[in-house]
Amino acid sequence: MSVLVTGGAGYIGSHTVVELLNSGKEVVIVDNFSNSKPQVLEQIRKITGKDFKFYELDYLNKEELEKVFQENDIEAVMNFAGYKAVGESVQKPIEYYTNNISGALVLLDTMRKYNVKKFIFSSSATVYGDPETIPITEECRTGGTTNPYGTSKLFIEQILKDIYNSDNSWDICILRYFNPVGAHESGLIGEEPQGIPNNLMPYIVRVAAGILKELSVFGNDYPTPDGTGVRDYIHVVDLAIGHIKALEKLEKEKQGLYIYNLGTGTGYSVLDMVKAFEKATNKKVAYKIAPRRPGDIATCYADPTKAKEELGWVATRGIEEMCKDSWNYIQLVSGN
Ligand code: UD1
Repeated sequence: MSVLVTGGAGYIGSHTVVELLNSGKEVVIVDNFSNSKPQVLEQIRKITGKDFKFYELDYLNKEELEKVFQENDIEAVMNFAGYKAVGESVQKPIEYYTNNISGALVLLDTMRKYNVKKFIFSSSATVYGDPETIPITEECRTGGTTNPYGTSKLFIEQILKDIYNSDNSWDICILRYFNPVGAHESGLIGEEPQGIPNNLMPYIVRVAAGILKELSVFGNDYPTPDGTGVRDYIHVVDLAIGHIKALEKLEKEKQGLYIYNLGTGTGYSVLDMVKAFEKATNKKVAYKIAPRRPGDIATCYADPTKAKEELGWVATRGIEEMCKDSWNYIQLVSGN
């Protein structure tokens, strides 16, 4: 029995494949390298000393995807094949909705056809919009997303709820990620955004490495302790382990639809992150205060109690490790 991982060469997908292989699972990866590189597959083999099956294909291609289900004994599916750049999603809503929503539908339809009904979905804290209460629990209202990327996550969650209501032999786990950062401790895999990064940590590491001049801190007049935005940064390896725990839950329990926040429960401001990074790496991060970025909220961090109680999962890697591992990875890829 194998776990099918779509987008398994991407940032969160590749770290999850490593944890799956380390936990003794057989893995089949599907990826079209739209936002990743073939070398990642070799790096996964190097880290784990294990092999897996790989198909280079677009998960929207139903015919080719069906072959994967015909040729393998798939037990469960984890879907990391979504587009994720918030700004780009505003410019290209049709591409985002097609890839994220139609892609998920093709995948789910194929799963149904081959009677594979365990599905783990990469959702995001973005589904909470401007959160009702802080820390955010899974019971907080969802909605009010401000871009097609976020809305695609919200819609897919609804689709999954509707599928489960129509046929409760499905076994679905929705994982709402907070802000994934860091890289594998080996430095062999990590996040490689194309062009100028939108997210904070990839931007900080590029300023420290001298690739970018200075960080713009988007707003210092939010109602937070230092005025800058507060987020729940989570190490990507902790996040990956969350998927292993979710899979164990689906294997153990009777069928159901489960939703979990994957965050640490601690909020850090932009300036906290700059300071933590400088301390962890001994590198200077030049920054200036800039206007607020449209669509940003003041504060967003998780109440991760439900994942702790029901999955036995807690994030164990702290801010220092997140910064060090992000730095370690950029040095290796940029040859600094
Ligand atoms: C963003 C997305 C979210 C997505 C997540 C993926 C928005 C509104 N939200 O979350 O949907 O799931 O990325 O990781 O885009 N910041 C700066 N300067 C920068 C970059 C960021 O000050 O150059 C600040 C932001 O204002 C924010 C914090 O850093 O307060 C984190 O930003 P970012 O890493 O982009 O993540 P989110 O906006 O939380």
